[in-house]
Amino acid sequence: MNDFDTVIRHGTVATACDTMQADIGIRDGRVVAIGLGLARGREEIDATGLLVLPGGVDAHCHLDQPMGEGLRMADDFLTGTRSAACGGTTTVIPFAAQEKGQSLRAAVEDYHRRAEGKALVDYAFHMIVTDPTRTVLHEELPALIEAGYTSFKIYMTYEDMRLDDRQILQLLAVARRHGALAMIHAENADCIAWLTETLEEAGHTAPKFHATSRPMAVEREATHRAIALSEVVDVPILIVHVSGREAIDQIRWAHAHGLRIYAETCPQYLFLTANDLDDGYEGAKCVCSPPPRDKANQRVVWDGLADGLFTIVSSDHAPFRFDDPQGKKPGGQEVPFQYIPNGIPGLETRLPLLFSEGVLTGRITLNQFVALTATNPARLYGLHPRKGTIAVGADADIAIWDPHREVTIENRLLHHAVDYTPYEGMRVTGWPVTTLVRGQRVWDAGQVCGQPGQGRFLPCGKPEMARPKVVDPAAGGHYVANLPDALRQLTRARHE
Ligand code: URP
Ligand code: ZN
Ligand code: ZN
Repeated sequence: MNDFDTVIRHGTVATACDTMQADIGIRDGRVVAIGLGLARGREEIDATGLLVLPGGVDAHCHLDQPMGEGLRMADDFLTGTRSAACGGTTTVIPFAAQEKGQSLRAAVEDYHRRAEGKALVDYAFHMIVTDPTRTVLHEELPALIEAGYTSFKIYMTYEDMRLDDRQILQLLAVARRHGALAMIHAENADCIAWLTETLEEAGHTAPKFHATSRPMAVEREATHRAIALSEVVDVPILIVHVSGREAIDQIRWAHAHGLRIYAETCPQYLFLTANDLDDGYEGAKCVCSPPPRDKANQRVVWDGLADGLFTIVSSDHAPFRFDDPQGKKPGGQEVPFQYIPNGIPGLETRLPLLFSEGVLTGRITLNQFVALTATNPARLYGLHPRKGTIAVGADADIAIWDPHREVTIENRLLHHAVDYTPYEGMRVTGWPVTTLVRGQRVWDAGQVCGQPGQGRFLPCGKPEMARPKVVDPAAGGHYVANLPDALRQLTRARHE
């Protein structure tokens, strides 16, 4: 049936595996045809000379997440998803965070209220589990996984969120039994606490000492421990925001030993270094955890993107205004580094930075770019093939890029509610000129045209990538995929 609401014509279409000249026919918010010479649509988009890519899936960002006393995230679902749309991202997955003592379901319900009527792009939720009580482990978490919240984050650091190894094992066992994916923030909390005390006693409190308090060894040790815990339970995990060589070495070791460990990195580990924290109190703008490292580590992260070590690139957008008593200057003060809220903004700049410095320099291919920023995150979190690709039947979530557009990143050009970008003044080539969410323009020719509330909540499927390996005794103890019955039996035998 040649009845299209919209046809995107004459563009170069790229997915995670193909690049082709093709037109795309859209009807009722979905891609219904990919071909040459499609019939006219009611609306036509001329993509001559442009790239037509799946809209980005930013699978790690923080929006309107309740914070401790006196702190507030700058972006809610409106400003955060607006910024995402303007940077070519069409799906975001922020975090419903459980406070200690709170029911996990209450955290998820509260987060739905925060999102309601605000988002311009589609969204799913991860959960953050900080209080794995018996009720959470045996009732709430399994029920929420079944209801479409199929991933959760575990913190090994931050005093108010960290879990001990036993609690982590308990949660990994739930992930294994119920088919969810655990994301792990790997830094050694006790090392950080001791280093912080020691630095404070010596009067070293400036923002730059945030990096000193979280050296690579702290991340390396926790990364290895997380891998070991995943091995013990026999369940895949994702190590989030990997910052450099020593953590990467642990992940390479795991891969060499046949363990299914996924890895995420973020633009801050490709474009910033610890020197960016060394600028008086301005350095607070780049305080995030793990901290940015150095140029040598950046190169190792780029290598990991090129050779397939990394599964996804996310922004870890954690938005705090700089000049704000609820942001980087708590109570209006320039505070010691350990009181500076962690995180930097990056939803809108994630894709242009990676495209410009990754694809245009030849470090990664265009198809790898699509895989890392859209297809793999959609697969990892049970949203593929509806999201993360351009295929017949998929949602028409599409970013049309001008690969030649030169942009100097300036905060005044961005659409978040943060008062700075750590990438101020960086020149990039390539920017999304039109973003469609389910066939509707949300960003076009420099104008935001999406409406708050247009973005829908997406329940996630159980990700195939979260499935444990299965040992088949009949195959001489070899690991065999696709054995759902055996998998179920083994899971029961081990954990019930
Ligand atoms: O510094 C960071 N990354 N803040 C956001 C929270 C987290 O740990 O991802
Ligand atoms: Zn984290
Ligand atoms: Zn984060």
